[in-house]
Amino acid sequence: MIGCFGLLSVLMKRSGTTELNDFYPIRPECKADVPTTRFKPRSGKTLSARRWNSAFNEEGRLDIAKVLRRIQRGGVHPSIKGEVWEFLLGCYDPNSTSEERNEIKQRRRGQYDMWKAECQKIVPVLGSGKFVTTPLVGDDGQPIDPSLVKIKTSDKKVVQWLQLLHQIGLDVVRTDRALAFYEIEANQSKLWDVLSIYAWLDNDIGYVQGMNDICSPLVILIENEADCFWCFDRAMRRMRENFRVTATSMGVQTQLGTLSQIMKTVDPKLHHHLEDLDGGEYLFAFRMLMVLFRREFSFADTLYLWELMWGMEYNPNIFTKYEDPEGAKTKAPTTAVNNKVLQQYGKFERKIVKTGRTEECSALAIFLVASVLETKNKRILTEAKGVDDVVKILGDITSSLDAKKACKEALKIQEKYLNKTKNP
Ligand SMILES: *[C@@H]1O[C@H](CO)[C@@H](O)[C@H](O)[C@H]1NC(C)=O
Ligand SMILES: *[C@@H]1O[C@H](CO)[C@@H](O)[C@H](O)[C@H]1NC(C)=O
Ligand SMILES: *[C@@H]1O[C@H](CO)[C@@H](O)[C@H](O)[C@H]1NC(C)=O
Repeated sequence: MIGCFGLLSVLMKRSGTTELNDFYPIRPECKADVPTTRFKPRSGKTLSARRWNSAFNEEGRLDIAKVLRRIQRGGVHPSIKGEVWEFLLGCYDPNSTSEERNEIKQRRRGQYDMWKAECQKIVPVLGSGKFVTTPLVGDDGQPIDPSLVKIKTSDKKVVQWLQLLHQIGLDVVRTDRALAFYEIEANQSKLWDVLSIYAWLDNDIGYVQGMNDICSPLVILIENEADCFWCFDRAMRRMRENFRVTATSMGVQTQLGTLSQIMKTVDPKLHHHLEDLDGGEYLFAFRMLMVLFRREFSFADTLYLWELMWGMEYNPNIFTKYEDPEGAKTKAPTTAVNNKVLQQYGKFERKIVKTGRTEECSALAIFLVASVLETKNKRILTEAKGVDDVVKILGDITSSLDAKKACKEALKIQEKYLNKTKNP
């Protein structure tokens, strides 16, 4: 119950209940504590189940251009978010048949079960509907409680992984606490299982705080745990560089550097002001990029923002890029990209493909931060006397941001940036 207010404030704020609460119920005692949601499915704008189903032909091939246009207008209806996201994140080629996708799905589920069994041999609690929040191994790498860890080993990979499980457990308890979904231990443990198995496989990154915030919506939207894992895997392929931690740097600093370069180009006045305040490295935007604005939006609005972003960033080659890096090279769009092919790209990605400027402009999230800064441009210029003030001004935006407007603004900034840095 920590962080939730008392009954009185709940009663006072009840009036704004929407139908969305049926999809992502908030614990009653937390209602006063979470930002209000702006997103509402709108008929004629939001991608509905009926429209979604009619975008597949008789073989099951998806008209992705049609779907992207719709998502751009009003997001995805909560009842189909999970299946749509699988495509947006590149789990499936939209031009595959239903039969092909079914085969891939069964193969991936089998693969996941094998990995899970591997992990269960070491830590039997995994997959049991329960999870642990206590340390599993001591500093010497030996199991603390032999009933929890079934093997004795000094294998570095195993010991490091066991150490991560403790941190994952602590973070799972704190993830989206206000949602009724996580009141049940079995549902928390689904998040724990997915993150733990991911950490077992990604030896480079393992687990870093913030990955729980990216994974949680997928756990809620995608019922089958293996399917959910593969979706998270795809999401991480886009974002994992941000989570790369070394003794001296965080991966996300690369994106912050790009942000600095963009701001310097599109709004030199604001950039120089921030530099004067010693904020030229944009560290205050760290969290926005790491967890993709999860703290700035309500749960439902984050989902809306993410599907808008992923729709705009959509690239039909994305799935081959990951499944088969060599194949992606040969399939990559060449100079002669015609209009029909371009319709299969999201709006943001389309500009990159047209201009061939892949390096600096790879993530819409960076331009989104720029758009957020622009909405606060005046206040930062006149009121901020230090970085703390900037943080405070940006903290005030919670619940006042409109996902669709912010994305539109981000696209404008992208265009401005591309114009200004164009080779003559
Ligand atoms: C989809 O696949 C079919 C069969 O392989 C192919 O003929 C068609 O050109 C593909 N369409 C697109 C848009 O790639
Ligand atoms: C727990 O997860 C299951 C399966 O996804 C879901 O049907 C159920 O509603 C969840 N529990 C709560 C309290 O939301
Ligand atoms: C970018 O350049 C194009 C063509 O020169 C122009 O039409 C457009 O208005 C410019 N956009 C911005 C945001 O500066």
